[in-house]
Amino acid sequence: MTAVLEVKNLHAGVDGNEILKGVNLTIRQGEVHALMGPNGSGKSTLGYVIAGHPHYEVYEGDILFNGESILDLEPDERAKLGIFLAFQYPVAIPGVSFANFLRAAVSSVRGYRDKVREEMERTGEFKEVGSELIPMREFRKELMETMDRFNVDRSFARRYLNDGFSGGEKKRGEVLQMAMLKPKIAILDESDSGLDIDALRVVADGINKLVADGMGALLITHYQRILNYVKPDKVSVFYDGRVVLTGGPEVAQMLEEKGYGWVEEHLDELEAKEMANS
Ligand SMILES: Nc1ncnc2c1ncn2[C@@H]1O[C@H](COP(=O)(O)OP(=O)(O)OP(=O)(O)O)[C@@H](O)[C@H]1O
Ligand SMILES: [Mg+2]
Repeated sequence: MTAVLEVKNLHAGVDGNEILKGVNLTIRQGEVHALMGPNGSGKSTLGYVIAGHPHYEVYEGDILFNGESILDLEPDERAKLGIFLAFQYPVAIPGVSFANFLRAAVSSVRGYRDKVREEMERTGEFKEVGSELIPMREFRKELMETMDRFNVDRSFARRYLNDGFSGGEKKRGEVLQMAMLKPKIAILDESDSGLDIDALRVVADGINKLVADGMGALLITHYQRILNYVKPDKVSVFYDGRVVLTGGPEVAQMLEEKGYGWVEEHLDELEAKEMANS
């Protein structure tokens, strides 16, 4: 079955201040959906709310995964369903190696942890620490193969998570996380920002492989540039907390030419059309 994430009339924000003002958006497995919009329009907030960041409140509307609301699910439960958020600003965790972080995340998402917890509850016996993790040998083999396939240097495994990573290395690291966690739907928040041309190609190439493997991507970006490498099926324009226009790749081209001033001038007209289509 093809997984579908549907955002429906989503109103959300912080401390009663609405940031998202009625977002409608559908992301399907195997599709690339680009989301473009001016600074501060709420794109990252949308990513956080979909991933279940506890800081944000949902006031109205719903988020459905395969037709079922995920609003009551914790972030880790959403991750288990196959939802992944690649941060605009990945956080560093000094002291935790990339490999150990990934092993813990993979073990959680693939249900190893739940299995051990259930077994301990059932038998009343303690399992030794580490038994809740994917076996080391199996994990290392998969990690090395994945790093090679996605052109990530093997030294990443030993380095502390994002600690002292360059901007480009962090974005490659996000691709590696997705390649290991194999989400059904991933939200990539400006995975192209700050990348030089070679790094952009590597990251775009990684995204293309993941999409070919069946991942659906919401690609948040400011620039047409990455869309030359990752061909979007749909492009949506985000403006003041909502989607005001959805179309094909030509929408990104048009934005590049006309800018957001044009969007603002035609807001009423665009929204009326978008409403009629959604
Ligand atoms: N946790 C928060 N507390 C208070 N205000 C917030 C919070 N998160 C977001 N906002 C506000 O919501 C608005 C939208 O922010 P958001 O980061 O979602 O925008 P964006 O579209 O991702 O912008 P950019 O293109 O610059 O990344 C901003 O005005 C921001 O200050
Ligand atoms: Mg942002």
